[in-house]
Amino acid sequence: MDDTPLMRQLARDHARRRELEGLVFDAPESTRVITVANQKGGVGKTSTTVNLAAALAMGGLKVLVIDMDPQGNASTALGVDHRSEVAGMYDVLVESTPLEDVVQEVGEVEGMLCAPATIDLSGAEIELVSMVARENRLRGSIRDYLASRETDGGQRLDYVLIDCPPSLGLLTVNSLVAAREVLIPIQAEYYALEGLTLLLKNIDLLRQHLNPELEVSSILLTMYDARTRLAAQVAQDVRTHFPDQTFETTIPRSVRISEAPSYGQTVLSYDPTSSGALAYRAAAREISTRPAP
Ligand SMILES: Nc1ncnc2c1ncn2[C@@H]1O[C@H](COP(=O)(O)OP(=O)(O)OP(=O)(O)O)[C@@H](O)[C@H]1O
Ligand SMILES: [Mg+2]
Repeated sequence: MDDTPLMRQLARDHARRRELEGLVFDAPESTRVITVANQKGGVGKTSTTVNLAAALAMGGLKVLVIDMDPQGNASTALGVDHRSEVAGMYDVLVESTPLEDVVQEVGEVEGMLCAPATIDLSGAEIELVSMVARENRLRGSIRDYLASRETDGGQRLDYVLIDCPPSLGLLTVNSLVAAREVLIPIQAEYYALEGLTLLLKNIDLLRQHLNPELEVSSILLTMYDARTRLAAQVAQDVRTHFPDQTFETTIPRSVRISEAPSYGQTVLSYDPTSSGALAYRAAAREISTRPAP
């Protein structure tokens, strides 16, 4: 009876709660810009972006979430105003509005900021096509924002996490050009690795032409159901292919994670002791303890 998946999960949650209690994360040497990407829809990009960001911020770090998806799911989950009249990433990318003019404080956690996406952002994918240096717009905005915080005596950002839409269009390309690191969430299911080949090929092309520093630094298994043999098999395949990048922590399938956004909250404040919240905190600890590339 002691070795059922449920008992194992309870034991692990208990251990995690104790390990993570009051834990403060080390700040990186310089701001780490991480893009969360996977062109496959619904694999947990947004959940991973907002919950990791909240976990890092609760660990005492200064974190900015950039919502690059016209769906605006990250903005919703963080309870940030993103009605169409609000300035957001469309204005930054297309109108050259400084990032500092659209960034909002996230009420939920101290130290957390969000640059929201409004529905206008869907137009940016097309409007960007004819612009000069269209792939570098976000990179330039982030660079200027980090520099302006420095001259204004603002607190240095420790992490910038960018949530991508489920496509490989110009919004995702901008996000990949702006970052040093890519975090790929993978849903532990049968087709998981098929889409990955295409994503990695695109990342390779970007590295050759637009961003030589880009690295796939992290792979996170999401919606992991420890009771199924398939999930274990997919996890093992992923670990075999990417032994250094794959997080030890997996994110369990959890109703709490899916409920939290409808309250404009991350799972970390919606239900801090749930398995999902603890898993994201453990993943945040892994990020903060792995050396930046
Ligand atoms: N660990 C989890 N357990 C249960 N449900 C989850 C989990 N992670 C995400 N979900 C739910 O699955 C759906 C897809 O997740 P999410 O929006 O994070 O994926 P996404 O990759 O950002 O999707 P899209 O490609 O549309 O942007 C959402 O309804 C979310 O609440
Ligand atoms: Mg999303």
